[in-house]
Amino acid sequence: MSKFLYIFLLFCALNAEDFISKMEYARMLYQNPRGIGCNKCHGENGEGKLIANYKQKDTKNGKLSTLSLSAPQINNMDFESFKKSINKSTGMMPSYFLTDAEILTLYEYLQTKKEQK
Ligand code: HEC
Repeated sequence: MSKFLYIFLLFCALNAEDFISKMEYARMLYQNPRGIGCNKCHGENGEGKLIANYKQKDTKNGKLSTLSLSAPQINNMDFESFKKSINKSTGMMPSYFLTDAEILTLYEYLQTKKEQK
């Protein structure tokens, strides 16, 4: 009997190590999908973020102007437009080729983070 219990406990321990919650999985996906985290550009909770300020010289009059590059807020969209934008990203956002399930996970993650604040 005690042997059986030991094996049972060992089995539980091994399984527990593999187990991550849905929220943990979602956070990992948001912070490191395909090697480039959404949070780097869109902020930890998808609130949008300034990526960089830079100066550009006007080729005609030689004047310097300060421009900024930022990523939009993405925790306030409906799921359909969220999904569409990720798949057809054209500008400076990288293309990810995420599956529908991954996109849904990301979407739910951002909604949850927004509600928690
Ligand atoms: C290198 C910076 C960068 C990374 C990383 C990035 N984005 Fe973006 N994202 C942008 C920028 C900039 C835009 C604005 C449109 C454009 O230039 O492509 C954008 C646009 C979007 C939009 C459309 C927003 C709108 O209002 O239409 C969504 C949705 C989005 N990103 C989601 C994500 C998700 C999810 C990830 C991670 C899988 C991610 N982005 C990673 C920079 C980034």
